[in-house]
Amino acid sequence: MKYKIINFQKHGDDRGMLVALEENKEIPFNIKRVYYMYDTVAGVRRGYHAHKKLQQILICIHGSCKIHLDDGFDTAEVVLDKQFQGLYVANNMWREMYDFSPDAVLMVLASEYYDESDYIRNYHEFLEYVRGEDLL
Ligand code: TYD
Repeated sequence: MKYKIINFQKHGDDRGMLVALEENKEIPFNIKRVYYMYDTVAGVRRGYHAHKKLQQILICIHGSCKIHLDDGFDTAEVVLDKQFQGLYVANNMWREMYDFSPDAVLMVLASEYYDESDYIRNYHEFLEYVRGEDLL
């Protein structure tokens, strides 16, 4: 499984909605870190990296955005516009985030602490890494 949309259970009643997430249950890993993006400037596209080890769940808890995914062989575009949906992204996946609505809040649950050495920030290097071959 390289990526997957997960529909979280909604606890709704006449007061409104609530979603609860627990590690190793709704979230298929230990949650070591949470970060979120907001006030994203119109037209910005960010990300442009892959991770060697890190797994993540992306949840657009307000507004909407799109995620471009690339495993080195196939690509996919995913729309995140529902507060009860999470996008699981495995390691070794190139990702770019774009089309943020002005009110978008993109929250990320991460399986590892922040570690710059886990990043692959060069697309060509990423392709060589996942394909296991020298492409030059
Ligand atoms: P960056 O990796 O450029 O964000 P993205 O790839 O999602 O567009 O991160 C922006 C800044 O935030 C950069 O200085 C590193 C810092 N940062 C942390 O300190 N901890 C974190 O967990 C993350 C994701 C970023």
